[in-house]
Amino acid sequence: MATELIKTGTPGLDHVLKGGLRKGASILITGAPGTGKTLMALQFIYYGAKDYGENGIFLTTEENTDVLAQSASNLGMDIKAVMDKGKMFIVQKPIATLKGGIMSIKGLIDAIKKNNVKRVALDSLIFFEYLYPRFDGNKMEYRRQVLIFMQQMKKAGVTFLVVSERSVTDFDRLVYDMMDFVFEGIIIISRVRKGSYFERVLTVAKMRGQDHSLDVYPVTIGTEGLKVLHDQTPFSLVEKEQEGFK
Ligand SMILES: Nc1ncnc2c1ncn2[C@@H]1O[C@H](COP(=O)(O)OP(=O)(O)O)[C@@H](O)[C@H]1O
Ligand SMILES: [Mg+2]
Repeated sequence: MATELIKTGTPGLDHVLKGGLRKGASILITGAPGTGKTLMALQFIYYGAKDYGENGIFLTTEENTDVLAQSASNLGMDIKAVMDKGKMFIVQKPIATLKGGIMSIKGLIDAIKKNNVKRVALDSLIFFEYLYPRFDGNKMEYRRQVLIFMQQMKKAGVTFLVVSERSVTDFDRLVYDMMDFVFEGIIIISRVRKGSYFERVLTVAKMRGQDHSLDVYPVTIGTEGLKVLHDQTPFSLVEKEQEGFK
């Protein structure tokens, strides 16, 4: 049976993924702060709802929908318009207000069913890190809770995108986290220094059950949002290669 691939909402990324994401998969987007992870997750939900007929829920630790909507509007997204149509939902859980649990999973599942939701994004895993700190003895509980959440999303039939922060994002020195292995796909965004400025780059580290490019691509953020330049090689890397010939 051919697997159904869905569009990511990030121009160029579907090309790198040779069609898109497998419907119903759980995907991790990881990288250093400021690389564009939140934006990629937001585009996944926004364009999924607006252009691809898939309603979405964006779970965020940000304090304020207005701030999120404002910064999105500078990047070509009219979030409020899609929210007003009942196609996109933002659920905010500021870290400071988290207590007993992430949120009621049952409440979330009900909302998924009621609103015909097909995509869920969680920004970010810090939700779970905060609630289930990974000090010695408690590592298993953190893993268990993330797994339970993932299983629930799978059962609900949604494509699930999760953001996590990582300090070292040099592709050559990437330190994998134990949780990475539970995701079916991993996309890494990083910053590479080129002289006096940094360039954003992306690579798909894994995408279970589908063919994808293993190359490193430049990423830009502009008035149309985040884009993957799938037909270009990062400047920073070209220079590195050339140094080899000096
Ligand atoms: N309106 C904008 N125009 C250009 N770049 C922007 C705009 N808004 C945000 N950015 C860039 O996007 C980056 C933030 O992306 P974000 O998705 O929040 O990163 P992450 O979630 O990985 O920390 C900022 O560091 C900034 O450089
Ligand atoms: Mg972020």
